[in-house]
Order: sequence, then C-alpha cells, then structure tokens
Amino acid sequence: MPTRFFGRYEVTFMRAVRRYGLLPTLRTRLRDVVLQLRWLYFTRVWGMDLHPYTLISTKAKLDRTYPRGIHIGEGTAVNFGAVILTHDLVREEYRDTRVGRNCMIGAHCILMPGVTIGDHSIVGAGAVVTKDVPPNSLVVGNPARVIRINVQTKDFGRMLDPGTAVAEAPQ
Ligand SMILES: CC(C)(COP(=O)(O)OP(=O)(O)OC[C@H]1O[C@@H](n2cnc3c(N)ncnc32)[C@H](O)[C@@H]1OP(=O)(O)O)[C@@H](O)C(=O)NCCC(=O)NCCS
Repeated sequence: MPTRFFGRYEVTFMRAVRRYGLLPTLRTRLRDVVLQLRWLYFTRVWGMDLHPYTLISTKAKLDRTYPRGIHIGEGTAVNFGAVILTHDLVREEYRDTRVGRNCMIGAHCILMPGVTIGDHSIVGAGAVVTKDVPPNSLVVGNPARVIRINVQTKDFGRMLDPGTAVAEAPQ
C-alpha cells in the first residue's frame, strides 16, 4: 500500500535544496514526518478512515465529535483551514462524510456533514459544500456549485485535464 512518505519524493534532497532552497526543503521533509504521525493519531486513536496516501494539512480540521464518520480516499489532499464536518448539533445529526480518490479540498472550505465528494474532484478554496459532488467535477462558491465536469486529476488533485465548463457541457 503506497504512503506519501519515505522515498517517494520526485527529486533528491540536494536537487530540492537547489530548486526550492534549504529551509523550504527541510520544512517539507519534516512536515511529512509530522503528517505521518498525525495520520497514525487520527486513524489509530480516533478511528478515522484515512487512506495512508493522503495529505491532510496540520491546519485542517477533521470533526472529532463523530470521528468514525470521516472517510478520505487514496491520493487526496485536504488543505489548510479546510473543515470536514460529521455532526450538526442544530439538526442533531451524526453523518458520514466521504471524500473520494485523487481529490483536492481547497484552503478554508467547509464540507457539511453527510456530503460525498466523488473521485477526481476539486473543491475550490473557500467553498461551502452542502450537497454531494459528482466524480470528476470542480466546485466553487457558497453554496458550492459545479463549474466544470470531466475534470481529470492525478494524486493530490493535481489537474491533468481541466474538463469542460458547465455552460459549454452538453445537456
Ligand atoms: C478552483 C480552482 C482550482 C479553479 O482554478 P481555475 O481552473 O484556474 O478556474 P478559473 O480561474 O478559470 O475560474 C473559473 C471561475 O470560477 C471562479 N473561481 C475560481 N476559483 C474560485 C473560488 N475558489 N471560489 C469562488 N469562485 C472561484 C472564477 O472567478 C471564475 O469565475 P468567472 O467565470 O465568473 O470569471 C482555484 O481557483 C482554487 O480554488 N484552487 C485551490 C487553491 C488552494 O486551496 N490552495 C491551497 C494549497 S494547494
């Protein structure tokens, strides 16, 4: 089973230092160790369902009121400030929230309890997702709306094909 860590870097340490500088390279490598420890903490202590090959920012918030309701698939990135909710005291709901494979959950967005983000989908920064997102879609805004379909992504939601704008998509 692949993990993001240890020996999976695209460039060697020295090449990364030449390209990005010493401090950013050290920060990235050290952060990966921290993220690995956090993955263990989330999965072993809290019982969340996180694939080992994921990138969950240290500044993302995963709901610990109903932690077993969090499901995140292989190759998905959850960026800083993103909030993934599984409970809602107002409606007294505890629901499973699922993010598929090779998705990108943008900075500071909110996934409401019970939504499912389909594989290879991208949630733009700041979006508030209140409904399920189909696979291979790009959504933005509050409430989040699909603005592109047929999007293709590789790991961590890096776009291979930007897909078709919804206005141009066949009905
Ligand atoms: C969603 C995103 C991938 C779209 O990028 P893009 O493919 O270049 O999209 P465009 O810039 O062509 O934007 C298309 C439309 O969506 C709007 N839009 C783009 N991103 C938006 C966002 N996050 N929220 C609201 N609207 C957004 C644009 O204003 C544009 O609207 P218009 O057609 O009315 O002019 C990008 O904006 C984004 O949010 N990336 C994530 C950034 C992030 O979270 N980084 C954290 C570290 S990775």
